[in-house]
Parts: sequence; C-alpha cells; structure tokens
Amino acid sequence: MPIKHLDPIQAVAVSDVYSGSVHPMREVTRSVAFDKGWSPDRLESVKGLFDGLASEWTASRNDPDRSLPLLDALERGKVEGRLALELGAGTCLFTGALCSRFASVIALDLAPEMLSHAVTDKAPLVNADSSMLPFRDGVADVIVLVNMLLFPTEVERCLAPGGRIVWVSSRAEDTPIHLSAEDLEAAMSTTRTTTWTGVSSRAWTGSWCVLRRT
Ligand SMILES: C[S@@+](CC[C@H](N)C(=O)[O-])C[C@H]1O[C@@H](n2cnc3c(N)ncnc32)[C@H](O)[C@@H]1O
Repeated sequence: MPIKHLDPIQAVAVSDVYSGSVHPMREVTRSVAFDKGWSPDRLESVKGLFDGLASEWTASRNDPDRSLPLLDALERGKVEGRLALELGAGTCLFTGALCSRFASVIALDLAPEMLSHAVTDKAPLVNADSSMLPFRDGVADVIVLVNMLLFPTEVERCLAPGGRIVWVSSRAEDTPIHLSAEDLEAAMSTTRTTTWTGVSSRAWTGSWCVLRRT
C-alpha cells in the first residue's frame, strides 16, 4: 500500500554537525526491523549505550521544537485513541505531550537510567524490552516510537484493530535510529497478514509516518 506524503511544514535543515546515517545504530535499526536481529548481546550493548547517555540526554535535547514532528504526526496523521504506548521513551521528553492527547499513556524503556531521569510523572514508567512487551494482545490504540527501534511482531501483536503506529525521526534521515516511511511499512508488512495504510510528512528538522492497521 503506497504511503501518502503530505507537504512539509516549518521544515528546516538539520545542522551538519554529524550524520546519523553512518552511526552504528542505523545498522542495528535495519537488522532488528527486517531480520529479527536482536540478541542478548545486542540488548546489553544497547542498554549500556543509553544508560551511559542518560545523565546528559535531557539537557542536550530538551528543546520544545523537538516535539514539533510528533505533534504534527498526531495532528495531520489524525491519530486518535484512548491508550497510547510510548516505546523507547527515554527520559520521557515527549510523554507529557502524549498525556495531553490520550486518556492513558504508558512510557516504556529498556534502559533503567533513562527512566530514572524521566522529566514527567504523568504516566506509568515500565522498564522492559520491546522485543517482549509485557502487554496483552491488541491492548493499544496507538504505539508511539520516537527515534526508537522497531520490533514489528510485538508492535503488531499489541496494537488494536484500526490502531496506529506513530513513527518519528527527530533529525529525519540524519537520525541514527531511522527508517523511511516506505521501509517502516515494508517491515510491518513482514508480519502475519495485516495490511497498513500510511501517511507521512516532515516538520521542523524531523520526519514522521503514521501507519494505520486496516
Ligand atoms: C535514541 S533514544 C530515544 C529516546 C526518546 N524517544 C527521545 O527521542 O528523546 C532510544 C531509546 O530507546 C530505548 N530502547 C532501545 N532498545 C529498546 C528496546 N529493545 N526496548 C525498549 N526500549 C529500547 C533506549 O534505551 C533509548 O532510551
């Protein structure tokens, strides 16, 4: 199913400080999304990486403009529902915005140090691995992933019929953990027989895609 691409809003170029496209997490992202490339060693390495970044994560990224791609995705992607799961929530920089929009939000992350620096207490925090989500089938109306690895089987399992995946890359193609909208749809289409419709755009430095489970 082709993705519908909407016009960008407030798009600005990312700075050229670095390109995440050559970051090692890019290869991890593709391997996890397409080849079930998650292992105990990889889990420990990713957890250790983000636990090590936790103390400076918020200070270096707590820019209100960084929420614009997510807010645009929710608005123009027409995302509605009661329960939203935020996977890879990190220090919960986006959790407050999600709590303003959904009746219930659960913020989950693999790295306990990231959660220990959470900037909000509005949502329950869950320290768990998204490759084995501690939720029942079809529980979520919305699953939000901002700069987060995609585990297609678990995302599909936990998403309700008609539910939405909200996929955001804060620095668009320069985000280390990034898939294009087409790759997101292709990765999700490798699971069972579910089909997806998608809409995508860019806002500020970021890009987003909302996939609806049909
Ligand atoms: C690039 S950070 C993004 C954090 C936050 N979404 C943001 O944009 O500020 C990726 C986050 O995903 C988490 N993560 C990575 N693999 C995960 C997994 N298997 N299950 C849950 N969280 C995971 C990391 O611990 C980290 O906090």
